[in-house]
Amino acid sequence: MPFHYVVVGGGTAGLVLAARLVENFPDVNVCVLEAGENVTHEPDLVIPGFAFKNLGQPRLDWGFMSTPQEYAKGRSIYIPRGKALGGTSMINLMTMGRAHKHEYDAFAALGSPGWDWNGLVDYFRASETFAPSEEEKSKLNVAFNKTAHGTSGPIQRTLPQWISDVQGPFTQGMQSLGVAWNNDATSGNNVGLCTSYHSIDSHGARSSSASAYYEPNEHKANLTVVTGARATRILFDESKDSSGNLVASGVEYLKDGELHTASAQLEVLLCAGTIQTPQILELSGIGEKKILEACGVALKVELPGVGNNLQDHFWSPFVTETDTKYESVEIMSDPARAAREWKIYEESKKGMLSGTCSTLYAFLPKNNFMDSVPKTGHSSMNPSLHAVQKEWLAADDIPFLEVALFPGCLPVPGLKPEPGKSYCSVFLALTHSFSSGSIHITSSDPLAAPAIDYRLLDNEVDLDILVHAIKFARKLGTTTSLSSVFTQEIVPGPSVQTDEEIKEFIRSSIDTVFHPIGTAAMLPREKGGVVNSSLKVYGTSNLRVVDASIIPIHLSAHVQATVYAIAEKAAAIIAHDHQL
Ligand SMILES: Cc1cc2nc3c(=O)[nH]c(=O)nc-3n(C[C@H](O)[C@H](O)[C@H](O)COP(=O)(O)OP(=O)(O)OC[C@H]3O[C@@H](n4cnc5c(N)ncnc54)[C@H](O)[C@@H]3O)c2cc1C
Ligand SMILES: *[C@@H]1O[C@H](CO)[C@@H](O)[C@H](O)[C@H]1NC(C)=O
Ligand SMILES: *[C@@H]1O[C@H](CO)[C@@H](O)[C@H](O)[C@H]1NC(C)=O
Ligand SMILES: *[C@@H]1O[C@H](CO)[C@@H](O)[C@H](O)[C@H]1NC(C)=O
Ligand SMILES: *[C@@H]1O[C@H](CO)[C@@H](O)[C@H](O)[C@H]1NC(C)=O
Repeated sequence: MPFHYVVVGGGTAGLVLAARLVENFPDVNVCVLEAGENVTHEPDLVIPGFAFKNLGQPRLDWGFMSTPQEYAKGRSIYIPRGKALGGTSMINLMTMGRAHKHEYDAFAALGSPGWDWNGLVDYFRASETFAPSEEEKSKLNVAFNKTAHGTSGPIQRTLPQWISDVQGPFTQGMQSLGVAWNNDATSGNNVGLCTSYHSIDSHGARSSSASAYYEPNEHKANLTVVTGARATRILFDESKDSSGNLVASGVEYLKDGELHTASAQLEVLLCAGTIQTPQILELSGIGEKKILEACGVALKVELPGVGNNLQDHFWSPFVTETDTKYESVEIMSDPARAAREWKIYEESKKGMLSGTCSTLYAFLPKNNFMDSVPKTGHSSMNPSLHAVQKEWLAADDIPFLEVALFPGCLPVPGLKPEPGKSYCSVFLALTHSFSSGSIHITSSDPLAAPAIDYRLLDNEVDLDILVHAIKFARKLGTTTSLSSVFTQEIVPGPSVQTDEEIKEFIRSSIDTVFHPIGTAAMLPREKGGVVNSSLKVYGTSNLRVVDASIIPIHLSAHVQATVYAIAEKAAAIIAHDHQL
């Protein structure tokens, strides 16, 4: 049966498109091909406190590894990605943030009209319902600009129900270092310290694209979702259209060991995520000539931007022991205590299992944590993006560092929390790394993983910023409010003192925050772009990319809220262009 639209990847963005298409047009047929399975209601995926359990499970997680990273001690970095209906929205840690409005404005300034903050805010709103009670607002010291938040969209965004006792002293400590409290960090200005928001509904369950977008539409006869269906390539008509563009005719996919075709009369919508979208484009003949030739794939459109411009957020840990009067997440290894938390969760949807225990975030521009602007010498970024980031680094409103409180011991290789002790971690993440990597196929086998090279720390700037970040965390620990809370630094530890020692520590510990973007960037073609501002792949008439890979430059925010907004905006663009 031919479909009007075929969506490749029923993940975070893909299910938004599928849902909006069938809602907007009762007479169109939509097919979604998703490699993973339908796990929407499995308890480990629903209950927020179990979220960490799902990582690394081959059934739910693609579990990619980067190539050995030369400047990070040759380590390969583990890159989880959701493999399920709902994609990464099924396994992520549910934080819902938005970047500074000027960062979105850069999307437009780089050549994509309509993609600035003002052009996106309606789509952020369309994607969510955010309706905190007055009681919650006063308890968490927040107040929201109503015009920026959604009240009837599918994703349920809520405030945390459980707060660590360290949060009070931590907040005071940050404030004493000049970091201001921000009572509305998702209305276009994210600078400062703020509460977290999560994609968790009022019943304490994960709100994913599967539960929020797909399920309300699952009964519709014109929506076909095929799980366990692995797309292998996009198929094109023999002849091009009158403007010389390739015309996509469908998608080839593998299910139960057999190849099938889903034909698309109108469009193919590629939503396979930052890692697999460029892989599928290259397997289909769209990419850089020499990469395709080396793999024996016939070139159909020469588009060297495919797979380049990979950016991510990277973090280094800071862990201390705390006074044991402050409980940390390690207490959940006590079976009696875990049973008590389970009961609280079952009865009231509160307690430690109602969230991820990570409830306080700060986004700091340079003046909050650096006394001078580090030099930006060499960078692997494309020159237009490099220029933007350089300007942002010198500005007072674009955050370069995320500082998050975690009331426990963050996963650090070789570090085991000791029973009976309490811990606290300060999560320190670069929001605008100056490294730009790539994801490319290394063979024509669609089942082979692509080569993922972050070029992590290939420049001095990122190291300099993280050195300042570690020093900032140390200073935080000596503030009046925290000096009696943080009793003993464990990581990096007292033996790591000079800048060179701190850099060595960073090279050995730096890791991904799981926010890869940029490998099918929405940029002008001559700037290395892969899609135009209608999200159409250059050189094609009816193939769009809609997922995190189109984000051209990174944001000082966790990305899922932006992915939802992008998909909502894409659905509106497709609806506008739609003709049966
Ligand atoms: C462990 C983890 C924690 C995170 N925590 C947060 C957080 O707290 N807050 C936040 O904002 N962001 C978080 N993120 C990031 C965020 O969830 C992602 O950026 C976002 O979900 C990406 O959406 P997407 O639509 O681009 O891709 P995805 O949601 O990954 O969708 C891609 C889909 O395509 C499918 N697919 C891929 N290849 C094929 C193929 N060949 N055939 C068929 N199907 C295919 C995949 O199975 C998947 O379902 C986290 C990510 C991870 C991995
Ligand atoms: C599905 O779409 C077709 C057109 O392709 C239309 O004729 C039919 O009414 C639709 N079915 C439903 C149940 O909406
Ligand atoms: C997924 O499972 C739910 C029940 O948990 C069911 O209602 C739904 O129809 C299933 N969808 C698919 C595509 O398998
Ligand atoms: C509230 O948000 C809207 C939408 O982003 C914005 O236009 C407006 O300036 C904001 N108002 C205030 C007081 O911040
Ligand atoms: C994007 O590309 C398509 C075809 O490749 C074209 O029809 C469309 O006008 C372009 N959109 C913009 C905004 O340039």
